[in-house]
Amino acid sequence: TIYPDAQTASVAVAQRIAKLIRNKQANGSKAVLGLATGATPVAVYKELVRMHREEGLSFQHVITFNLDEYFPMQNDAEQSYVTFMHQNLFDHIDIPAQNIHIPDGTLRKEDVAAFCINYEKQIEDAGGLDLQILGIGRTGHIGFNEPGSAPNSGTRLVTLDDLTRSDASRDFGGKENVPTKAITMGIGTIFKAREIVLMAWSAKKAPIVKKAVEGEISGEVPATYLQLSDNVEFVLDADAASEL
Ligand code: GLP
Repeated sequence: TIYPDAQTASVAVAQRIAKLIRNKQANGSKAVLGLATGATPVAVYKELVRMHREEGLSFQHVITFNLDEYFPMQNDAEQSYVTFMHQNLFDHIDIPAQNIHIPDGTLRKEDVAAFCINYEKQIEDAGGLDLQILGIGRTGHIGFNEPGSAPNSGTRLVTLDDLTRSDASRDFGGKENVPTKAITMGIGTIFKAREIVLMAWSAKKAPIVKKAVEGEISGEVPATYLQLSDNVEFVLDADAASEL
């Protein structure tokens, strides 16, 4: 779906999320959301906060699982995805703290594998992801599933691509400060979501959006795997869609 601009598109995605939350609540069940970080979903979160404040949208019965986190990473670091999520969403809504799940960047390396297995289990125990939202990196990564990721991959520790670390260098005051690793949900984890919405804004994303939508399906551009799913919607602004 192509919208004239990112703001209109973000409001539409927020409305879709709000509808899911309200439908689930009406059935007495919980909405399980897969959440993303980066600049792309910020306006979606802003609109959800507005709906919470002005329209009484409640997150009491919402469970969230974030896609990824840098590794190693302290929770209270400025660049952590924990900080990002609290600043952009969680601190402004009524979600119970125990319903929030974000990969743990503070673990000892030897504890990461067990954490990842448990993360998958927690998603399953919650009933699976109802809706996963995604951005896309310029390498074609979704979450931090960089080129070379397997289509059936699960949550795991990965090495970040050089381009991804360059793109993150501003947040870290220099590329040398960007962690070389991250914990990310896998392509397989994302695929199990009942609905997937990938968002991309601006001309900067146009070449990778073209590859993801029209390119050959290949591990070289992990987002191309989404072509194999029936439950995916790409939500784009006109600039991101300009090369399609
Ligand atoms: C990071 C995140 C991804 C995100 C990507 C794009 O690498 N781990 O989940 O999609 O950045 O970021 P942005 O939305 O800022 O363009």
